Amino acid sequence: MQRAPRWWQTGVIYEIYPRSFSDANGDGVGDLAGIDGRLDYLAWLGVDAIWIAPFYPSPMADFGYDVADYTGVDSLFGTLDDFDTLLAAAHERGLRVIVDYVPNHTSDRHPWFIESRTSRDNEKRDWYVWRDAGPNGELPNNWISMFAGPSWEWDETRQQFYLHTFLKEQPDLNWRNPATRAAMFDVARWWLDRGVDGFRIDVAQMVMKDPELRDNPINPKPDQAHRLGSWDTQIHLNDLSHPDMHELYRSFRSVLESYPGDRVSIGELHHPDFDTWAAFYGERQDEIHVPFNFHLTYSAWTADAVRAAVEGVQSALPPGAWASWVLGNHDQPRFASPHRAGPDQAKVGMLLLLTLRGTPTIYYGEEIGMVDVPVATEDSRDPVERREPGRGRDPERSPMQWDASPNAGFAASDATLWLPIAADASSVNVASQSEDPASILTLTRRLIRLRREHPALHTGDFERFGPTPDGTFAFRRVSDEGRVTIVLNLTGEPRSVPGAGPGRTLIGTHGDRDGEPVEAAVELRPNEAVIVEHAVAT
Ligand code: GLC
Repeated sequence: MQRAPRWWQTGVIYEIYPRSFSDANGDGVGDLAGIDGRLDYLAWLGVDAIWIAPFYPSPMADFGYDVADYTGVDSLFGTLDDFDTLLAAAHERGLRVIVDYVPNHTSDRHPWFIESRTSRDNEKRDWYVWRDAGPNGELPNNWISMFAGPSWEWDETRQQFYLHTFLKEQPDLNWRNPATRAAMFDVARWWLDRGVDGFRIDVAQMVMKDPELRDNPINPKPDQAHRLGSWDTQIHLNDLSHPDMHELYRSFRSVLESYPGDRVSIGELHHPDFDTWAAFYGERQDEIHVPFNFHLTYSAWTADAVRAAVEGVQSALPPGAWASWVLGNHDQPRFASPHRAGPDQAKVGMLLLLTLRGTPTIYYGEEIGMVDVPVATEDSRDPVERREPGRGRDPERSPMQWDASPNAGFAASDATLWLPIAADASSVNVASQSEDPASILTLTRRLIRLRREHPALHTGDFERFGPTPDGTFAFRRVSDEGRVTIVLNLTGEPRSVPGAGPGRTLIGTHGDRDGEPVEAAVELRPNEAVIVEHAVAT
């Protein structure tokens, strides 16, 4: 007998970047109490779980991804009591809570690092990756930081270099040291004991590196890589994804599974090739429960590229495994921005995200079609922008647009915000869209409900469909109890997709075609997508 699907397979996850979601105390930065105040909205929207990006004590060199204490709450976001209150309130509403787990590095202010850098013989000397300089002061190898520049920093006291894959304020932990690993597993247990439903593992593939720290090869085709500036000048053969990762994530999973209640691990995995990504499920599907896949995020928004991404992911999946899907997150340009899919395609993207087979994660604001808010380099908050102009992530982190009030309902009207509100916030916001039958918010909410209720969309298999005319993409979801075809027009012109009928439409992006009979061809207006339901033989 097939096992019933787990909640994290059929559920919809909603990512909250806590600085930007809702500010309860009027300091212009979002907080845990702010999230608490929005739980009714999230329950109304219908998502199953929230993932909250880091809220731990941090000097904020990388806005919380530089953790100085894994088992606390930064006063900017509130207190541990606020977290417990939020967790209980979420659970009361049937919402699960996933927290960020940042294993690759700590802050340089973490007590572990402070101790580690005091000498070459202290108890924590090997908790980080330390190496001597070469005979002429050379760096230990050619590795570069993802945030530009060499990934080695000289420490005067130890007279050694330490490794930092990100900022120098984010030294990499040495996971090959059993004591480090035990301490980090204890961090996971600490949050599991508190009742969290799982972890999103930050840069999951970076944790294990080549033990010999060999150089990376130079990338002969840096222009073909994706948008990561100087990072793309190398092939990252030795500084990430060492095969020892697999044993590590098997052990990590067994920690999660020693707890009741289907706790989940979600891995942030940026792998342009399908197979390396799929390997993180584990040969026996005993590693990361939900390896995030960013193929839709990185692909151009054209029918051919989207088809290649979706079908590539589906084919690479180990038998019986579930994919995961995202359109964006706090590190990527927003999906509806003109330099991504564009506002006209926002609903098409949402319909795709919520009909694919696999766990979808909505990035806050995607459900109302938020776009990037430009921030000039000199005003930037994200350190990456100053180090490599153009790569900054402030634009996708602008405050959530709740209503048409001066600070968009994100914070008190007189608060000074950490990042500017979008210029379109007076029209693009939750309040204005919640009653509008044609809004993307209404569409999102209806799709989430349909996904839960319709057997084919809930657990059905993925089936290829086509070929379809230029600029269109279609696929089927099929189960014993239902069959649907999802038909998407990624162009600004009308398209006819033969063979996608007969049946009747369930929902369309434009909100005005429910229950329409469809003959053999599905006629799509510009920027339209529909779900067509077919009769099932009884
Ligand atoms: C991940 C996070 C990103 C952060 C980086 C370093 O990619 O999503 O925001 O800067 O890891 O922790």
